[in-house]
Amino acid sequence: MRKKIVAGNWKMNKTFEQADELMSDIMDQLEQTELNRDVQLIVCPPFPYLELCTDYANDSYFAVGAQNVSDQERGAYTGEVSAEMLKSFELVDYCIVGHSERRSYYGETDAIVAAKVNRLLAAEITPIVCCGEVLAEREAGKQFDVVRRQITDGLFHLDADLFKGIVIAYEPVWAIGTGKTATPDQAQEIHAFIRQLICEKYGNEIAQDTTILYGGSCKPSNAKELFANPDVDGGLIGGASLKADEFIAIAKAF
Ligand code: 13P
Repeated sequence: MRKKIVAGNWKMNKTFEQADELMSDIMDQLEQTELNRDVQLIVCPPFPYLELCTDYANDSYFAVGAQNVSDQERGAYTGEVSAEMLKSFELVDYCIVGHSERRSYYGETDAIVAAKVNRLLAAEITPIVCCGEVLAEREAGKQFDVVRRQITDGLFHLDADLFKGIVIAYEPVWAIGTGKTATPDQAQEIHAFIRQLICEKYGNEIAQDTTILYGGSCKPSNAKELFANPDVDGGLIGGASLKADEFIAIAKAF
């Protein structure tokens, strides 16, 4: 059975003190709450707080992820962080790749996404690979073409064994931070489409085992109906992951 995941993408938010407070609030909430243990919780803080979060993760069952990684191995790449460095934290088990904000603000192409995925897999870190269309593409009915291209060019160079180590997040860009959520039907439609693409490339067993998350204004009030869809295996949460009670309430939607 594929893994259910609720991952918080903090993006570029919080000071160190605020990050510490959020983690401590999450720990309090976890103590008071009975969560479905089949759901993997992940927090993805900014790089400088990875160690803080892995310290908390040490005696808990949630995991820690980074928000980005370099496409290069090591060397003179000022400001970059390599997969090998992430690996040396030991408890950093996941990394977001190809988020739409990185694609649009930092020119991250499918080829760069593919290179980052390779670096992460070589370091035994699970890539959470984002895809999703912008509003104009959705309005032109191009969402399937866009997602097919992102998945094909970013991931389908992998052999089947490596592909098994991938988590996918479908994040319609028009729903990110806008308060506008994809309807459960819209989410299910694309998630089923992505699973079908995987099935055509790698076969049904791998397709059925691949976790596909939804992201885009997911919150406690809509998580349940989104996660109730057969092909939606959890969420990649932005704004609502910055408050412990909302983040845990979303995890409880399973
Ligand atoms: P919001 O939940 O703030 O819309 O962000 C979603 C997202 O981009 C997660 O990666």
